[in-house]
Amino acid sequence: MRLKLKVWRQSGPQLRGRFEKYELDGCDSRMSVLELLDHLNEMLTSQGKAPVAFESDCREGICGACGLTVDGRPHGWRDNLPACHQRVGKRRDGAVITLEPLRSGLYPVVRDLVVDRGVLDEVTLAGGFASVDTGLAPDADTLPVPHDVAEAALDLAACIGCGACVAACPNGSAALYAGARVAHLASLPIPSLERGRRARAVAAAVDQWFGACSGYRECARVCPAGVDLGATALVAKERWGAALHPART
Ligand code: SF4
Ligand code: FES
Repeated sequence: MRLKLKVWRQSGPQLRGRFEKYELDGCDSRMSVLELLDHLNEMLTSQGKAPVAFESDCREGICGACGLTVDGRPHGWRDNLPACHQRVGKRRDGAVITLEPLRSGLYPVVRDLVVDRGVLDEVTLAGGFASVDTGLAPDADTLPVPHDVAEAALDLAACIGCGACVAACPNGSAALYAGARVAHLASLPIPSLERGRRARAVAAAVDQWFGACSGYRECARVCPAGVDLGATALVAKERWGAALHPART
């Protein structure tokens, strides 16, 4: 199959970018978006041209590195799949696929399809961790966690930090990401000891850097980890819980 790729090229953060068009022979319906880029880069390097810069690591949907925009959508055509799992599928010969960086004013372009998603770290640094001394591994077993609580926490902890939710949101909200970070810790016995501090710090980081959540739902549609939209409400729950209980540590 021959495909036409329209790819954003930008040599550096301060430089002007533009779309370049490429015709690519030998494409296959089973190829992922990243394999298309690999194939394109083989062609470009064989011609002595600069390859397209893009991020990838695991290619198994667990690292979050592969965030990019495919035909106007973070990660690609199908809901809840990372770019590394989005397959070309059946397309007519000569079909056009457009590849851009994740679109967000919060993610400056580093080069071509690579963006700086460091703003997400502001949320994680504020409260996406537990600083309580949890002791040695056997000690953790002495605090039983109900199965449903553990399952709900694991569902939220599945966030792979790809940043697609922010790029998909017309408001640039990080409510899904922050909800996943803050709520799974709030529900577990030891991390919940610092629930109030964490909620206040995460709320401050979210307010400083990101837009407000208006319930567009695009975040949950693109999330490759399947984080439920309910996570957006959990940020508000934690925020107001900390405000109404000032003594909560
Ligand atoms: S909540 Fe989903 S879309 Fe957002 S960063 Fe985590 S994995 Fe990516
Ligand atoms: S490359 Fe790791 S999630 Fe896609």
